[in-house]
Amino acid sequence: MSTSNTPAIECRGVGKTWNAESEKPFAALQDISFAVKPGEFVVLLGPSGCGKSTLLYLLAGLEQATRGELLSEGRSIEGTSPERGMIFQEAALFPWLNIRDNVAYGLALRGMPKPQREVRAMELLARVGLNGFELKRPAELSGGMRQRAAMARALALKPKVLMMDEPFAALDIQTRAKMQAYLLQLWRESGASMLLVTHSIEEAIGLADRIVVFTARPGRIKEIVPVDLPRPRNPRDAAFHALHDRLAELLADEVDRAFAEQEALAR
Ligand SMILES: Nc1ncnc2c1ncn2[C@@H]1O[C@H](COP(=O)(O)OP(=O)(O)OP(=O)(O)O)[C@@H](O)[C@H]1O
Ligand SMILES: [Mg+2]
Repeated sequence: MSTSNTPAIECRGVGKTWNAESEKPFAALQDISFAVKPGEFVVLLGPSGCGKSTLLYLLAGLEQATRGELLSEGRSIEGTSPERGMIFQEAALFPWLNIRDNVAYGLALRGMPKPQREVRAMELLARVGLNGFELKRPAELSGGMRQRAAMARALALKPKVLMMDEPFAALDIQTRAKMQAYLLQLWRESGASMLLVTHSIEEAIGLADRIVVFTARPGRIKEIVPVDLPRPRNPRDAAFHALHDRLAELLADEVDRAFAEQEALAR
Protein backbone atom coordinates (compact mmCIF):
# COMPACT_ATOMS: atom_id res chain seq x y z
CA MET A 1 0.00 0.00 0.00
CA SER A 2 1.23 3.47 -0.70
CA THR A 3 0.56 6.51 1.46
CA SER A 4 2.28 9.88 1.50
CA ASN A 5 4.57 8.53 4.23
CA THR A 6 5.77 5.69 2.05
CA PRO A 7 9.22 6.53 0.64
CA ALA A 8 9.33 7.13 -3.11
CA ILE A 9 12.40 4.89 -3.20
CA GLU A 10 13.98 2.72 -0.54
CA CYS A 11 17.08 0.52 -0.32
CA ARG A 12 17.31 -2.00 2.50
CA GLY A 13 20.66 -3.67 2.99
CA VAL A 14 21.39 -3.63 -0.73
CA GLY A 15 24.55 -5.29 -2.04
CA LYS A 16 25.73 -5.83 -5.57
CA THR A 17 28.52 -8.13 -6.63
CA TRP A 18 29.26 -8.17 -10.32
CA ASN A 19 29.99 -11.61 -11.79
CA ALA A 20 28.92 -13.14 -8.45
CA GLU A 21 28.85 -16.68 -9.84
CA SER A 22 32.23 -16.46 -11.52
CA GLU A 23 35.79 -17.05 -10.28
CA LYS A 24 36.29 -13.32 -10.09
CA PRO A 25 33.37 -11.83 -8.17
CA PHE A 26 33.62 -8.08 -7.85
CA ALA A 27 31.88 -6.35 -4.95
CA ALA A 28 30.54 -2.97 -6.04
CA LEU A 29 28.05 -2.12 -3.27
CA GLN A 30 27.61 -3.29 0.30
CA ASP A 31 24.83 -2.82 2.82
CA ILE A 32 23.20 0.24 1.30
CA SER A 33 20.16 1.43 3.26
CA PHE A 34 18.45 4.76 2.69
CA ALA A 35 15.15 6.17 1.56
CA VAL A 36 14.06 9.05 -0.65
CA LYS A 37 10.88 10.81 0.47
CA PRO A 38 8.22 11.85 -2.04
CA GLY A 39 9.34 15.13 -3.61
CA GLU A 40 12.78 14.98 -1.97
CA PHE A 41 16.01 15.86 -3.80
CA VAL A 42 18.80 13.43 -2.87
CA VAL A 43 22.33 13.57 -4.26
CA LEU A 44 24.76 10.62 -4.30
CA LEU A 45 28.36 11.73 -3.87
CA GLY A 46 31.38 9.45 -3.84
CA PRO A 47 34.72 8.57 -5.42
CA SER A 48 35.01 7.09 -8.88
CA GLY A 49 34.13 3.41 -8.99
CA CYS A 50 32.27 3.31 -5.66
CA GLY A 51 29.09 2.01 -7.28
CA LYS A 52 26.94 5.12 -7.76
CA SER A 53 25.95 4.25 -11.32
CA THR A 54 25.45 0.64 -10.27
CA LEU A 55 22.97 1.78 -7.62
CA LEU A 56 21.00 3.81 -10.18
CA TYR A 57 20.87 0.78 -12.51
CA LEU A 58 19.48 -1.31 -9.65
CA LEU A 59 16.88 1.33 -8.79
CA ALA A 60 15.94 1.77 -12.45
CA GLY A 61 15.36 -2.00 -12.57
CA LEU A 62 18.02 -2.51 -15.25
CA GLU A 63 20.15 -4.79 -13.04
CA GLN A 64 19.45 -7.03 -10.06
CA ALA A 65 20.90 -6.69 -6.58
CA THR A 66 22.73 -9.66 -5.07
CA ARG A 67 21.49 -8.80 -1.57
CA GLY A 68 18.80 -6.77 0.12
CA GLU A 69 15.65 -5.16 -1.10
CA LEU A 70 14.86 -2.23 -3.41
CA LEU A 71 11.41 -0.69 -3.12
CA SER A 72 9.48 1.87 -5.09
CA GLU A 73 6.52 3.28 -3.13
CA GLY A 74 6.71 0.24 -0.89
CA ARG A 75 6.64 -2.28 -3.74
CA SER A 76 9.59 -4.43 -4.71
CA ILE A 77 11.38 -3.18 -7.86
CA GLU A 78 11.21 -5.97 -10.42
CA GLY A 79 12.09 -4.17 -13.65
CA THR A 80 11.94 -0.84 -15.41
CA SER A 81 8.90 1.41 -15.01
CA PRO A 82 7.87 4.76 -16.51
CA GLU A 83 7.42 5.89 -12.89
CA ARG A 84 11.21 5.81 -12.51
CA GLY A 85 12.85 7.95 -15.20
CA MET A 86 16.57 7.84 -15.91
CA ILE A 87 18.91 10.32 -17.55
CA PHE A 88 22.31 8.90 -18.40
CA GLN A 89 25.52 10.87 -18.44
CA GLU A 90 25.46 11.12 -22.23
CA ALA A 91 22.00 12.36 -23.16
CA ALA A 92 20.11 9.36 -24.45
CA LEU A 93 18.23 10.87 -27.38
CA PHE A 94 17.44 9.18 -30.69
CA PRO A 95 19.83 10.86 -33.15
CA TRP A 96 17.49 10.36 -36.12
CA LEU A 97 14.51 12.16 -34.56
CA ASN A 98 14.15 15.88 -34.00
CA ILE A 99 13.86 16.80 -30.33
CA ARG A 100 10.09 17.35 -30.48
CA ASP A 101 9.67 13.76 -31.67
CA ASN A 102 12.24 12.57 -29.12
CA VAL A 103 10.15 14.11 -26.33
CA ALA A 104 6.91 12.79 -27.84
CA TYR A 105 8.28 9.27 -28.24
CA GLY A 106 7.31 7.92 -24.83
CA LEU A 107 3.88 9.50 -25.18
CA ALA A 108 3.41 7.67 -28.48
CA LEU A 109 4.17 4.37 -26.72
CA ARG A 110 1.42 5.25 -24.26
CA GLY A 111 -1.01 5.73 -27.11
CA MET A 112 -1.41 9.51 -26.93
CA PRO A 113 -2.64 10.74 -30.34
CA LYS A 114 -0.11 12.61 -32.48
CA PRO A 115 -1.55 16.16 -32.32
CA GLN A 116 -1.76 16.00 -28.50
CA ARG A 117 1.69 14.58 -27.99
CA GLU A 118 3.22 17.18 -30.29
CA VAL A 119 1.56 19.97 -28.29
CA ARG A 120 2.74 18.38 -25.04
CA ALA A 121 6.29 17.99 -26.39
CA MET A 122 6.33 21.66 -27.46
CA GLU A 123 5.18 22.72 -23.97
CA LEU A 124 7.87 20.67 -22.30
CA LEU A 125 10.61 21.97 -24.59
CA ALA A 126 9.48 25.54 -23.88
CA ARG A 127 9.84 24.81 -20.16
CA VAL A 128 13.50 23.94 -20.64
CA GLY A 129 14.12 26.97 -22.85
CA LEU A 130 14.22 25.15 -26.18
CA ASN A 131 11.39 26.86 -28.04
CA GLY A 132 12.42 27.47 -31.61
CA PHE A 133 14.62 24.35 -31.61
CA GLU A 134 11.88 21.73 -31.65
CA LEU A 135 12.60 20.53 -35.18
CA LYS A 136 16.38 20.26 -34.75
CA ARG A 137 18.04 16.91 -34.35
CA PRO A 138 20.28 16.25 -31.29
CA ALA A 139 23.48 16.58 -33.34
CA GLU A 140 22.50 20.16 -34.24
CA LEU A 141 22.37 21.21 -30.57
CA SER A 142 24.96 22.00 -27.91
CA GLY A 143 25.64 19.57 -25.05
CA GLY A 144 23.60 21.69 -22.62
CA MET A 145 20.66 21.84 -25.02
CA ARG A 146 20.79 18.08 -25.52
CA GLN A 147 20.67 17.53 -21.75
CA ARG A 148 17.72 19.90 -21.50
CA ALA A 149 15.94 17.96 -24.24
CA ALA A 150 16.69 14.77 -22.32
CA MET A 151 15.12 16.31 -19.20
CA ALA A 152 12.02 17.30 -21.18
CA ARG A 153 11.84 13.78 -22.55
CA ALA A 154 12.14 12.20 -19.12
CA LEU A 155 9.52 14.56 -17.66
CA ALA A 156 7.06 13.87 -20.49
CA LEU A 157 6.25 10.57 -18.81
CA LYS A 158 5.58 12.30 -15.47
CA PRO A 159 7.89 10.03 -13.47
CA LYS A 160 7.52 9.95 -9.70
CA VAL A 161 11.28 9.61 -9.42
CA LEU A 162 13.84 11.02 -11.81
CA MET A 163 17.34 9.52 -11.60
CA MET A 164 20.26 11.32 -13.19
CA ASP A 165 23.79 9.98 -13.57
CA GLU A 166 26.20 12.93 -13.67
CA PRO A 167 23.91 14.70 -16.13
CA PHE A 168 26.02 17.87 -16.33
CA ALA A 169 29.54 16.44 -16.06
CA ALA A 170 30.42 17.13 -19.69
CA LEU A 171 29.26 20.76 -19.60
CA ASP A 172 31.26 23.92 -19.03
CA ILE A 173 30.87 25.59 -15.67
CA GLN A 174 28.52 28.41 -16.77
CA THR A 175 26.20 26.06 -18.64
CA ARG A 176 26.27 23.78 -15.66
CA ALA A 177 25.08 26.53 -13.30
CA LYS A 178 22.22 27.33 -15.71
CA MET A 179 21.26 23.67 -15.95
CA GLN A 180 21.13 23.35 -12.18
CA ALA A 181 18.73 26.29 -12.04
CA TYR A 182 16.54 24.66 -14.73
CA LEU A 183 16.58 21.41 -12.85
CA LEU A 184 15.51 23.01 -9.57
CA GLN A 185 12.64 24.74 -11.35
CA LEU A 186 11.53 21.50 -13.04
CA TRP A 187 11.80 19.68 -9.75
CA ARG A 188 9.51 22.21 -8.05
CA GLU A 189 6.98 22.14 -10.88
CA SER A 190 6.93 18.37 -11.25
CA GLY A 191 6.78 17.42 -7.57
CA ALA A 192 8.93 14.37 -8.49
CA SER A 193 11.64 12.95 -6.25
CA MET A 194 15.13 13.44 -7.63
CA LEU A 195 18.15 11.18 -7.24
CA LEU A 196 21.24 12.69 -8.83
CA VAL A 197 24.82 11.41 -8.98
CA THR A 198 27.63 13.91 -9.09
CA HIS A 199 31.36 14.23 -8.41
CA SER A 200 30.98 17.91 -7.63
CA ILE A 201 30.61 18.90 -3.99
CA GLU A 202 29.39 22.32 -5.08
CA GLU A 203 26.71 20.82 -7.29
CA ALA A 204 25.63 18.52 -4.47
CA ILE A 205 25.22 21.41 -2.00
CA GLY A 206 23.54 23.58 -4.63
CA LEU A 207 20.85 21.01 -5.33
CA ALA A 208 20.27 18.54 -2.53
CA ASP A 209 17.93 18.26 0.44
CA ARG A 210 20.26 15.48 1.59
CA ILE A 211 23.63 14.23 0.35
CA VAL A 212 24.50 10.54 0.61
CA VAL A 213 28.30 10.25 0.85
CA PHE A 214 29.76 6.92 -0.27
CA THR A 215 32.99 5.20 0.71
CA ALA A 216 35.44 3.83 -1.86
CA ARG A 217 34.56 0.47 -3.41
CA PRO A 218 32.78 -1.60 -2.30
CA GLY A 219 30.55 1.41 -1.85
CA ARG A 220 28.95 1.75 1.57
CA ILE A 221 27.22 4.79 2.98
CA LYS A 222 29.74 6.84 4.90
CA GLU A 223 27.33 9.54 6.03
CA ILE A 224 24.05 11.16 5.03
CA VAL A 225 24.41 14.93 5.26
CA PRO A 226 21.32 17.16 5.32
CA VAL A 227 21.59 20.52 3.55
CA ASP A 228 19.51 22.96 5.56
CA LEU A 229 20.24 26.07 3.50
CA PRO A 230 17.54 28.15 1.80
CA ARG A 231 17.44 28.07 -2.01
CA PRO A 232 18.79 29.58 -4.19
CA ARG A 233 22.08 28.74 -2.53
CA ASN A 234 25.08 30.97 -2.85
CA PRO A 235 28.50 29.27 -2.98
CA ARG A 236 29.97 32.43 -1.44
CA ASP A 237 27.94 32.11 1.78
CA ALA A 238 29.79 31.10 4.92
CA ALA A 239 27.39 28.22 5.62
CA PHE A 240 27.90 26.88 2.07
CA HIS A 241 31.67 27.06 2.61
CA ALA A 242 31.51 25.26 5.93
CA LEU A 243 29.47 22.43 4.43
CA HIS A 244 31.82 22.26 1.44
CA ASP A 245 34.81 21.83 3.78
CA ARG A 246 33.05 19.12 5.73
CA LEU A 247 32.12 17.15 2.62
CA ALA A 248 35.61 17.57 1.15
CA GLU A 249 37.03 16.09 4.33
CA LEU A 250 34.60 13.17 4.28
CA LEU A 251 35.52 12.44 0.67
CA ALA A 252 39.29 12.96 0.78
CA ASP A 253 40.20 9.60 2.38
CA GLU A 254 37.81 7.75 0.13
CA VAL A 255 39.15 9.34 -3.04
CA ASP A 256 42.70 8.36 -1.96
CA ARG A 257 41.58 4.80 -1.29
CA ALA A 258 39.75 4.55 -4.60
CA PHE A 259 42.76 5.87 -6.48
CA ALA A 260 45.19 3.47 -4.76
CA GLU A 261 42.91 0.55 -5.57
CA GLN A 262 42.58 1.49 -9.23
CA GLU A 263 46.37 1.80 -9.50
CA ALA A 264 46.80 -1.63 -7.89
CA LEU A 265 44.26 -3.20 -10.28
CA ALA A 266 46.04 -1.66 -13.26
CA ARG A 267 49.37 -3.25 -12.30
N1 LIG B 1 28.55 -4.48 -15.86
C1 LIG B 1 29.59 -4.57 -15.04
N2 LIG B 1 30.27 -5.74 -14.90
C2 LIG B 1 31.31 -5.83 -14.05
N3 LIG B 1 31.76 -4.83 -13.27
C3 LIG B 1 31.14 -3.66 -13.35
C4 LIG B 1 30.02 -3.44 -14.23
N4 LIG B 1 29.60 -2.16 -14.09
C5 LIG B 1 30.42 -1.61 -13.19
N5 LIG B 1 31.32 -2.50 -12.73
C6 LIG B 1 32.34 -2.23 -11.70
O1 LIG B 1 31.68 -1.90 -10.50
C7 LIG B 1 32.34 -0.82 -9.83
C8 LIG B 1 31.36 0.31 -9.62
O2 LIG B 1 31.08 0.88 -10.87
P1 LIG B 1 30.13 2.12 -11.06
O3 LIG B 1 30.09 2.42 -12.51
O4 LIG B 1 28.85 1.89 -10.38
O5 LIG B 1 30.94 3.25 -10.26
P2 LIG B 1 30.65 4.80 -10.13
O6 LIG B 1 30.61 5.12 -8.69
O7 LIG B 1 29.48 5.17 -10.97
O8 LIG B 1 31.98 5.43 -10.75
P3 LIG B 1 32.18 6.79 -11.59
O9 LIG B 1 32.08 7.89 -10.60
O10 LIG B 1 33.58 6.66 -12.14
O11 LIG B 1 31.14 6.85 -12.66
C9 LIG B 1 33.51 -0.42 -10.70
O12 LIG B 1 34.68 -0.94 -10.14
C10 LIG B 1 33.21 -1.04 -12.05
O13 LIG B 1 34.38 -1.42 -12.70
MG1 LIG C 1 29.24 6.30 -12.69
